[in-house]
Amino acid sequence: MAGVYIHIPFCKKACHYCNFHFSTKKNYTVLVNAILKEIEINQKKFNNKNISTIYFGGGTPSIIENRHIQKIITKVKNQYNVFKNCEITLEVNPDDVNREKLKNWNKIGINRLSLGVQTFDNNILKKLNRIHTAEMAISAIEEIKKVYNNYSIDLMFGTPGSTKKSIENDLFILKKLNPPHVSIYNMTLEKRTVFYKLFKNNKISLPNENSVLSQYDLILDKLEKSGYENYEISNFAKKGYHSRHNSNYWKDKEYIGYGPSAHSYNKKYRFWNISDNKEYIRLINKGIRVYERERLSPTEKINEYILTRIRTSKGVDQRDLLKKFRVDLFKDKFDDIKLLEKKNLVTIDKNQIKLTNTGKKLSDSITEKIIY
Ligand SMILES: C[S@@+](CC[C@H](N)C(=O)[O-])C[C@H]1O[C@@H](n2cnc3c(N)ncnc32)[C@H](O)[C@@H]1O
Ligand code: SF4
Repeated sequence: MAGVYIHIPFCKKACHYCNFHFSTKKNYTVLVNAILKEIEINQKKFNNKNISTIYFGGGTPSIIENRHIQKIITKVKNQYNVFKNCEITLEVNPDDVNREKLKNWNKIGINRLSLGVQTFDNNILKKLNRIHTAEMAISAIEEIKKVYNNYSIDLMFGTPGSTKKSIENDLFILKKLNPPHVSIYNMTLEKRTVFYKLFKNNKISLPNENSVLSQYDLILDKLEKSGYENYEISNFAKKGYHSRHNSNYWKDKEYIGYGPSAHSYNKKYRFWNISDNKEYIRLINKGIRVYERERLSPTEKINEYILTRIRTSKGVDQRDLLKKFRVDLFKDKFDDIKLLEKKNLVTIDKNQIKLTNTGKKLSDSITEKIIY
């Protein structure tokens, strides 16, 4: 069983925090044709044909025409054994949502939407250089609800101008809208973004560490009280609404990525496609390889397992590690794990090591202690 990821590398304008691969050019058709060709020629030679999830990410997949999305889904279905109940997610931006588009997405088989909202604070949205207002995001959600039960909202905390109060307001509005799934990311300052330059030149300030931690505390507390399970550090779901596609990443399932910058994984190799639209199209049309790959060493595989699993509510399972990799984490890292437990950063439950809420805020430094 595997997942398919399709990267649609276009946005209307660049948000100041984002370094995902995208272009603001509009040569959609020629790029989609190249993606169709990439799926057909299956350069990376994935043998796994059973597909349980398809995820259109970006960039902004909701920009492209419905017929383009439909062609891609049809091509994937021709090349693979796509399960009948396959989860098919489309990332959408609020300014692209309207009744007609929603009906059309639904018609071609998109059964889950992920809407990028980031915040309901108009001043912060402006700072982020988002194209939409809070009101537009709210009315997009109200329209989505009429067509979709299964949808998710992306928010961010730790953004310039954010405070405990602004997050409180975001969570208040969120509670009223009551989406079945929410992803809330701590904004990272990425190189090659406007924020990075502004920050280096002292032109913006970010909330200090204590403020960011108190924002995250508030998020954990309020969402738990509203009935969400925090099934991964950044992901919260009502019962039955976990993202199957993302959960498969954490379960070490294979995934096949198509489009510029898309990543793939087949349990032995990690692959990444070139992050340049023009070059991607040129290479695909000439039948030249568009990806690089790296074979994962046994230690990298163990660490990958620990890195991804520690972020989930299931935690790192000692028996899994023994079975899959023949390593005894509790023995090898006994002192470190015991110390983390004493500091209330992790809990140890027979075979599982899990982050506490305090631990979730320090996940990177905790992971450092328990990887090989
Ligand atoms: C790949 S983006 C695409 C989503 C869609 N284009 C949008 O903007 O709504 C997915 C999510 O990543 C998050 N994201 C992007 N840049 C980030 C950053 N620097 N730090 C944390 N989260 C980020 C945002 O919440 C965004 O909605
Ligand atoms: S956050 Fe979304 S819309 Fe903004 S630049 Fe990144 S991918 Fe594009």
